[in-house]
Amino acid sequence: MCPPEYFTVEYAINPWMDTATPVDRELAVKQWHGLREALLGLGHPVHELAPEPGLPDMVYAANGAFVVDGTVYGARFRHPQRTPEAAAHRSFHEARGARFVAPAEINEGEGDFTYLPEAHGGLILAGYGFRTEPAAHAEAQEVLGRPVVSLRLVDPRFYHLDTALAPLDDGNIVYFPEAFSVAAQRVLAQLFPDAIRADEVDAFAFGLNLVSDGRHVVLNSEASGMAAKVAAAGYLPVPVELSELKKGGGSIKCCVAELRD
Ligand code: ARG
Repeated sequence: MCPPEYFTVEYAINPWMDTATPVDRELAVKQWHGLREALLGLGHPVHELAPEPGLPDMVYAANGAFVVDGTVYGARFRHPQRTPEAAAHRSFHEARGARFVAPAEINEGEGDFTYLPEAHGGLILAGYGFRTEPAAHAEAQEVLGRPVVSLRLVDPRFYHLDTALAPLDDGNIVYFPEAFSVAAQRVLAQLFPDAIRADEVDAFAFGLNLVSDGRHVVLNSEASGMAAKVAAAGYLPVPVELSELKKGGGSIKCCVAELRD
């Protein structure tokens, strides 16, 4: 996680970004601490990435890399505003001694990649269409040695995979089918017949942008319908308020990079 010290909404590359409404920085920082406390309270260690001036989107720490089995596949951002963030993530991972592989292809880390260790022997799901290049999916497969399933995103409001799909545990997912191409919807239905399907209300409440440890599902407090669905499926929803961060086009998952060492 990266504290939102320099966070503000400065540019519009993301249809969720509400550049007209000013961000209450104090509240943004308070909400971010609420998320941090919630994760710590569930027993998860949290490492902090030091924020850097001029990089307001560093708070969306999920986008800076993708880690599977201790190997770090670095990010290469699509937009120049975020490009320097990748080096900060690289330094973070190198300082902790992880194996880091620099990417040649444009990809936005966990924004567009996720990993399910128990789905079909270990599957990486990868989104493309807005940020990450499909060539990065092949590159990630070479670097990480796990099958990568490419999924085309078709609605600019779901510009990253993590706005439309999330693992609920090591083998199952929740997703909003309409964010994906018809072909990708078929692929998901084939691979995850037991998935939870979110509806438009859940998706627009940013309810898919969640973090789950397989039991507790941390999701933003506006997504009450999504919370009810995951509860009905046997998980424990943990709502966290993150309205200020939503103004920058991200929610819970966007703020959290998983280490998977
Ligand atoms: N303003 C950021 C962007 O548009 C938000 C990123 C949110 N992160 C995420 N993992 N979806 O790049």
